[in-house]
Amino acid sequence: MGQKWKRREFLSKSVKGTIGLFAVSTLPLGLTACNEDESIDVSSMVNLGSLKELEKGEFPKKVPYKAKIQDAWVEQEMEGFVYVNKNKEGDTLLIMSPICTHLGCTAGDAEIEMQKEGIRFYCPCHGGQYDEFGINVGGPPPRPLDTFDAYAQNGDVYISVLSAKQRKKPSN
Ligand code: FES
Repeated sequence: MGQKWKRREFLSKSVKGTIGLFAVSTLPLGLTACNEDESIDVSSMVNLGSLKELEKGEFPKKVPYKAKIQDAWVEQEMEGFVYVNKNKEGDTLLIMSPICTHLGCTAGDAEIEMQKEGIRFYCPCHGGQYDEFGINVGGPPPRPLDTFDAYAQNGDVYISVLSAKQRKKPSN
């Protein structure tokens, strides 16, 4: 079997695995460990820990990460956190970047009084407001918090941390 063919087979398996899992920004709950044949290349992804652990506790929650990421030929250390929530139906995980979509400050937890008004994340730089699903509900942010594609492998959840995805504010 030639080297070229092997590579093509690998890419084909990777793509198949990705699509077969979930090529969207949300992660279905209750997934089991993935089949080895459907393994994906996680060298440029961040491991958020086990899906079982992510499913536990209060939502939304802050999940820290620390990882060595392979970006093309460069390996870089990355440290940060994401916000994880269940979607409105409660059947998928929504993994959100904390980076404010106005000018890139970090959005933190809103004060309790604000939370009572439906504001869950607050950006102190210019008063950006987001609800628990990261939807911009006040201040200058032009769109919701970005999300990350998520993949499960061997029971752990990985995100494409270098490729945050933009969302549009849903129309009500
Ligand atoms: S950077 Fe967040 S509101 Fe301006």
